[in-house]
Amino acid sequence: MLRTLGIETSCDESAVAIVDCDGRVEVSLLSSQIAAHQPYGGVVPELASREHLKALPYLMDQALEGVRGPVELIAVTAGPGLIGALLVGVRFATAFAWGRGLPLIAVDHLEGHLVSSLLSLDGGPARPEPDRVLALVASGGHSSWYLMDRGARLRLGRTRDDAAGESFDKIAQVLGLGYPGGPAIDVLARRGDSSEVALPRPRLKDAPFDFSFSGLKSAAVRWIREHELVDAAAGEANPSAPVRNLAASFEAAVVEQLLSPLPELAAIHRPQLVTASGGVAANSLLRNALSEWGREHNVETLLPVPALTTDNAVMIAHAGQLAHRGGRSDDPRRLDARAREAWQPPGMRRGMSEAGV
Ligand code: KG4
Ligand code: ZN
Repeated sequence: MLRTLGIETSCDESAVAIVDCDGRVEVSLLSSQIAAHQPYGGVVPELASREHLKALPYLMDQALEGVRGPVELIAVTAGPGLIGALLVGVRFATAFAWGRGLPLIAVDHLEGHLVSSLLSLDGGPARPEPDRVLALVASGGHSSWYLMDRGARLRLGRTRDDAAGESFDKIAQVLGLGYPGGPAIDVLARRGDSSEVALPRPRLKDAPFDFSFSGLKSAAVRWIREHELVDAAAGEANPSAPVRNLAASFEAAVVEQLLSPLPELAAIHRPQLVTASGGVAANSLLRNALSEWGREHNVETLLPVPALTTDNAVMIAHAGQLAHRGGRSDDPRRLDARAREAWQPPGMRRGMSEAGV
């Protein structure tokens, strides 16, 4: 593989990383925009583009100071994401690749998350991708199960409405916990009782591997309103027991939904490895539940180190390396950002990615 510089600007993190020929992380830099978006309770697209424009030149300079040899390949997230935010990274990457005469790879953001569990931050090489991996990607924008099959990626199931992270963020917002809400709900849930609030776990009869979070989210918001707990956690160092119980019950329902397709998918595909990635894979309950499932069923499970669950450029650089080794290369003059339309990773079947994946 080639020493690769990765650039990620799909949402609210500007990130640049350099990964060596064995997938060892040489540099990983991240500039979070959370503080800029926090007053608005969510990501403001125009603000995100402006923040990327400010951060990226600085991050690039810093990264190139830390590199241990010549950069040989550029990898950049081309979609899906916020179009204005993606464009900043794509234009930067194309200009840089063109200027230096380097090959360029457009990486799908989800392909980045898929390989993130194979990487480490302790100086070790990337783990080779096993032939058959079942992989959950659960983040603020996506919740899907994939099969990674000898380099090909096939989506097996997905959310029909909200993403898991999005639903955590919504409940946190109604409780007054601020943005992003997943980490705050995780902390509260550790001190709550998940059997206290009964929440629905809808199953889709026609699509056993898909899930839905909107009914669950509405039921939780209704419960919060009925119990007059809107904003109850705002500025509270020690939120009340009902708030903690709701957080625990909601988290348990989301994790149960996410893992519900796993037994049958594993029986069909017989994976050598099961992984979970994306911001929601930082969740304590999800991590424990998946590891426990693996122990019970004698299947190896692997989770990215917490710093690589959320958006980063290390995973983009490595996904680019693997794609380039597989023979791909993109033309910097033709590369464009893709907001919602599917960019289909190699091997993904047409018609399976209509939800913007
Ligand atoms: O992968 P990511 O950084 O960005 C996207 O590609 O969307 O994921 C961010 C999402 C947010 O919705 C955030 O609330 C959620 O991941 N998240 C968590 C936790 N940490 C981050 N959700 C549940 N528990 C956590 N510990
Ligand atoms: Zn992401």
